[in-house]
Amino acid sequence: CGIVGYIGDDQAKDILIQGLKKLEYRGYDSAGIALLEESGVDFYKEKGRISALEEAIDDNAAGNIGIGHTRWATHGVPSRQNAHPHQSRNKRFTLVHNGVIENYRKLKEKYLSEVDLNSETDTEVIVQLIEHFTNQGKTTEESFRQTLSLLHGSYAIALLDNEDKETIYVGKNKSPLLIGVGKGENVVASDTMAMLSVTKDFLEIMDEEVVLVTKNSVQIKQLDGTTVDRNTFTTDIDESDTEKGTYNHFMLKEIDEQPFVIRNIIQKYQNENGDIKLEPEIRSAIREADRLYIIAAGTSYHAGLVAKELMEKEAKIPTEVHIASEFLYNEPLLSKKPLFIFISQSGETADCRGVLVNVKKHGFPSLTITNVPGSTLSREADFTLHTYAGPEIAVASTKAYTAQMAVLSILAMDSARAKGIDARFNAMQELGLIANAMEALCDQKDKMEQIARDYMYDTRNCFFIGRALDYHVVLEGALKLKEISYIQAEGFAGGELKHGTIALIEEGTPVVAVVTQPHVNGNIRGNVQEVIARGANACIISTEATEEKGDHIVLPEVHECLTPLVSIIPLQLIAYYAALHRDCDVDKPRNLAKSVTVE
Ligand code: G6P
Repeated sequence: CGIVGYIGDDQAKDILIQGLKKLEYRGYDSAGIALLEESGVDFYKEKGRISALEEAIDDNAAGNIGIGHTRWATHGVPSRQNAHPHQSRNKRFTLVHNGVIENYRKLKEKYLSEVDLNSETDTEVIVQLIEHFTNQGKTTEESFRQTLSLLHGSYAIALLDNEDKETIYVGKNKSPLLIGVGKGENVVASDTMAMLSVTKDFLEIMDEEVVLVTKNSVQIKQLDGTTVDRNTFTTDIDESDTEKGTYNHFMLKEIDEQPFVIRNIIQKYQNENGDIKLEPEIRSAIREADRLYIIAAGTSYHAGLVAKELMEKEAKIPTEVHIASEFLYNEPLLSKKPLFIFISQSGETADCRGVLVNVKKHGFPSLTITNVPGSTLSREADFTLHTYAGPEIAVASTKAYTAQMAVLSILAMDSARAKGIDARFNAMQELGLIANAMEALCDQKDKMEQIARDYMYDTRNCFFIGRALDYHVVLEGALKLKEISYIQAEGFAGGELKHGTIALIEEGTPVVAVVTQPHVNGNIRGNVQEVIARGANACIISTEATEEKGDHIVLPEVHECLTPLVSIIPLQLIAYYAALHRDCDVDKPRNLAKSVTVE
């Protein structure tokens, strides 16, 4: 979910709507805004996209102070009733909330047994509790702090009080929220991108802090009322980085940006001598570790699988990769000196953060690899490596994935060198070649579009197969296709398909094979023949310059340890065109959100 707030001299409505549109990637099941004006609070909410909300808002709606929300449903179906903002019984308080309150039923029983709630959400309990405490004679700030201290779970909250038309009350625990500081105006937002039209200067809020935001002041306090001082930081994101430009979809723009991103990474991680530039503390943390534990979710997990190969094969460091939500409640036996590496585009994924909190309790060192350096995982880990991919807006991750693998390959080669291992390749040179190869593939859009038409147009399912490194890539290729085209797609280890899943192959079932690993290319080609013999429609993507073998896409040559950065490009483009031809909403696929800040 995403939150915005505005207080100043301008009309809040337009700023809130623009901000919510920038946050739509966080969820788009329903949206709402509340505006505070002399006569009281006006609020609007709608099921569906921000555009639906925009249509529902009265043209005359006015107010210089307001809050807004775009929702990814957790408790309660997506509906107008469950949309935010929520109001207290006497309509004094209006509130938006991200996160999940675990003890809301208990709180309701204990404090609100007399109150009829309007919605099924945990959020409503918060706003009713605030009113409950003010009814006992407490000030709004006191009631707000008291309420927050009772909550178990995650929250980012913005609150309006009908009887105080000069303040937005803000609170945060585990869910991201920032304050944007302007001149004679201040804003609240889940990320900096939402409010770049107002300011580039932001203030972080830590867990269990409340903030009183007025037009000209920002006051941070702990839950016990102690005041906190903090300096602002300036974001280096430009507003133009968050726009589509001439593209119809962010996803295609972001796919095309990949060569640029890789070249940018080379620049950022190279010193004047062409050597790898890395903080010495990160080097020592890796050197001192006896085992690396990579923790990630979704696409970032797939980048982690490739990273494991690089760390083990190139730097000879034992490495495990874990799905964050699994590791959180099912911790494996740990080595004596582990280093935890969190890979997360957003740096906000709650599943990863849960693991990081535990890791810190154990006192183990941690490194976050993220596209958002000021994010929660970046702030809370001991070290951060930035992936420099620029804002990624499309829900389906593309450039962040290749950027993660690029940074991890640099880290692996640096670690190899630190251990005195003879490198099999020069990371920077290879990444340069990869950028060129990506460009060549991005130029073949017509071909990818044709493949999407031929193979995916009216299929119900699709299989992706590969062996060794290619297996990790096909997992990501399948995820891309299912996320945005809703075709049931599975990535399989080439040799494993015959142990059960081959039963699903019928006449015409599409099977995409990635063939880039010389030591298993013969085997995977054998697996392709097995599915063809059962009627499959096979599409082969290979690095062997031999279309005679029936290959459909021949990839430019790069080092065999880094082929995932290149072989994923056709898979991303095929998924994109498949979704487009099936009339799917490419950038905002159903049921998904880009940054999932709840467990
Ligand atoms: C969500 C997104 C995925 C993403 C995953 C992990 O589920 O829809 O595209 O890969 O979160 O996100 P992160 O920001 O931690 O990389």
